[in-house]
Amino acid sequence: MKTLTIQTPDDWHLHLRDGDMLPETVPATARCFKRAIVMPNLVPPVTNAEMAMAYRQRILDARPEGNSFDPLMTLFLTNNTSEQDIIEAKAAGIVAAKMYPAGATTNSSAAVKQLEAMYPVFEVMQEQGMLLLVHGEVTDHHIDIFDREKEFIDQKMVHIVKNFPNLKVVFEHITTADAAQFVQEAGDNIAATITPQHLLLNRNDLLVGGVRPHNFCLPVLKRNTHQEALRKVVQSGSPKFFLGTDSAPHAKEAKENACGCAGCYSAWSAIELYAHVFEELDALDKLEGFASHYGPDFYGLERNEGTITLVREDWTIPDEITLPNDKPIVPFFAGHTVHWKLQQS
Ligand code: NCD
Ligand code: ZN
Repeated sequence: MKTLTIQTPDDWHLHLRDGDMLPETVPATARCFKRAIVMPNLVPPVTNAEMAMAYRQRILDARPEGNSFDPLMTLFLTNNTSEQDIIEAKAAGIVAAKMYPAGATTNSSAAVKQLEAMYPVFEVMQEQGMLLLVHGEVTDHHIDIFDREKEFIDQKMVHIVKNFPNLKVVFEHITTADAAQFVQEAGDNIAATITPQHLLLNRNDLLVGGVRPHNFCLPVLKRNTHQEALRKVVQSGSPKFFLGTDSAPHAKEAKENACGCAGCYSAWSAIELYAHVFEELDALDKLEGFASHYGPDFYGLERNEGTITLVREDWTIPDEITLPNDKPIVPFFAGHTVHWKLQQS
């Protein structure tokens, strides 16, 4: 049997939600990832160290018996975030803060309305060595949704990078050739995460033959030339690009809705989907760097001990999973056959 063993990976962009979702989402990620960057877009958002530490404890309490999953917590930046909030967060062990432009995505209404007003906070983050995680889309109504990422680069990202040369910035879930190129050409302090959906799909998969709500995520899927550009950078093995699933569960009824939620729930097949893509690219030898090395290297953390093994075995992603509240959820890539499967120890 063909197998692939890699150092234990981490997920550098994850939505676990809260409350009765945690018994579903925490085991899903903890089955193969040792750490995950936990996104703070709860309601209300996680805006200070105290809230983040309480959330971390709720996540730890939801781990399967004997599992050592280590959630890495983040702060949700708002125009009310103070320099003191950053200092306290850093002291509490929070590794990064997430910047959502207000209205960009799920639960982001409390987020940053005026980015330049955040510069004093970025200054302190730079001093403290706290990473800035960026949802890189402008939200001006006159900007076409497919152009939001490119506009963000031109209007905002170039200035952040120029003004804060020592701030480590992760351009989250990049979706365009423009973002890939920007990150490649930027200095060593700029990196990016890439999701399985943006490697596997393009906007045809969202819109051709009918609207496919389960492929709707933000930033929205782009045209195939952008998908190709993302596939190229992961195939190249560049250490500036690493694994961040953006697994973001929404119940089936919230997705199959006249105003459907954005987010793909990929956690139960995440590492398998990446292996699937890397195999398609004839680059399975590059999976370990992307999944297990470049993330911790960029964050300045140790790489994990231990390994996981994937087996070359076809399996089909289920059509539905039942949430702890008994509501169904449709996992990302439901009904598709994937060629790799995690070997459960
Ligand atoms: C995320 C969510 O549902 O929390 N949705 C998504 O489409 N990716 C938020 C986000 O990361 O933008
Ligand atoms: Zn996200």
